Amino acid sequence: MGDSNSPPESPKENPDHVSDSNQIAKDDGELENIVRKFQDTMSVSKRHKFWETQPVGQFKDKEDTSLPEGPIEPPTPLSEVKQEPYNLPSQYEWTTCDMDSEETCNEVYALLKNNYVEDDENMFRFNYSKEFLRWALRPPGFYRSWHIGVRAKASKKLVAFITGVPARIRVRDVVVKMAEINFLCVHKKLRSKRLAPVMIKEVTRRVHLENIWQAAYTAGVVLPTPITTCQYWHRSLNPKKLIDVGFSRLGARMTMSRTVKLYKLPDSPATPGFRKMELRDVPAVTRLLRNYLGQFVVAPDFDEDDVEHWLLPTEGVVDSFLVESPETHDITDFCSFYTLPSSILGNQTYSTLKAAYSYYNVATKTPLLQLMNDALIVAKQKDFDVFNALDVMENDSFLKELKFGPGDGQLHYYLYNYRVRQELKPSELGLVLL
Ligand SMILES: CC(C)(COP(=O)(O)OP(=O)(O)OC[C@H]1O[C@@H](n2cnc3c(N)ncnc32)[C@H](O)[C@@H]1OP(=O)(O)O)[C@@H](O)C(=O)NCCC(=O)NCCS
Repeated sequence: MGDSNSPPESPKENPDHVSDSNQIAKDDGELENIVRKFQDTMSVSKRHKFWETQPVGQFKDKEDTSLPEGPIEPPTPLSEVKQEPYNLPSQYEWTTCDMDSEETCNEVYALLKNNYVEDDENMFRFNYSKEFLRWALRPPGFYRSWHIGVRAKASKKLVAFITGVPARIRVRDVVVKMAEINFLCVHKKLRSKRLAPVMIKEVTRRVHLENIWQAAYTAGVVLPTPITTCQYWHRSLNPKKLIDVGFSRLGARMTMSRTVKLYKLPDSPATPGFRKMELRDVPAVTRLLRNYLGQFVVAPDFDEDDVEHWLLPTEGVVDSFLVESPETHDITDFCSFYTLPSSILGNQTYSTLKAAYSYYNVATKTPLLQLMNDALIVAKQKDFDVFNALDVMENDSFLKELKFGPGDGQLHYYLYNYRVRQELKPSELGLVLL
């Protein structure tokens, strides 16, 4: 548990922390801490043959506060960027994946459904929907050339994938054009052959060709060097199913009926004026969000086009709600979550875990706790089994009280070619990557 090499977003509840009524045995907690510290030390001293060659914060420089914040390497003239793709092993070829094509989208979907991120115990695997992938990969100003696949030359089968999308990300008071890198996946049969570094170098080359020199990404593994390390928390909405599929365990001295009662939620949201976000709300939501995200050290710099794309509700992909004051009609609060199911591997009864992931939330008039309780209520209405949230932004202030339990595994955030002076606390991060 808490293996720092566990996969990212490890979608599983830590069974030692199932609920408030199931207190962690203190000794177990301490032992776990010692194990985690030991593993962190080990991974810090581990060699990273690829990452040591890249412009990223290196472990050896971690304590060196004299190094300046900002780009590690200056941009090179575009004419000096390598014009041809990197070499792949001779049986494979590059392909650009056109996500508008139903056929290509199906291939990407299938590759990820069968080969993408699993939890430590291989019980669950992310199952991003096709609609979600189209949404995630085609934001304003996206580049088709950044949706990169690898095919077997003989069969034309898609065997690896990596993507970037453009984003403006602010680090303190500097807004930096970046690529958000995601969906790195190598087919299970082609693992440990050093294909991932080639994929990463190729996406980097194509990002450079657009005159962009920085990137943001997350991973469940420790690489040189996280800007922060976050934890997932899980709020049971359908505890019986979560227990049946092994996502969570019945707490000590708990019966199923007591557990169901513990997680029961009201049928409808409590806040007057709580409603679904609409197109006409884009300007007000943008103002609310920009103002809110300003307080974090690292956060996206969203404009109205970004908000329309990333936050306007899209069925089965992203849900957003806001509070419109019944008196003034001002938009005072906002909450959102995205839909990311996981396949349940080898269960006779259930094949899919329906998970909602907390996205961006802003409370100015409604207490954040009440706003998020309303988010849980609408997620339950929409039949999600679990509501997940990272301990980023102000999330820590509601997690325990709203009966979230900590998950196993950690999510590390990284910047490419941008040094930050000091590791951030999760609460200093205002960025959620999909
Ligand atoms: C992640 C994945 C593509 C790595 O491929 P692999 O075949 O295991 O590893 P390779 O031999 O090709 O490459 C190893 C190198 O890639 C790095 N690497 C592994 N996972 C990485 C990740 N998620 N992000 C960045 N680099 C990663 C390793 O650290 C190593 O470099 P190093 O020697 O400098 O440490 C593959 O394991 C996979 O598809 N896993 C399931 C999906 C997944 O976890 N995707 C990542 C989501 S963040």
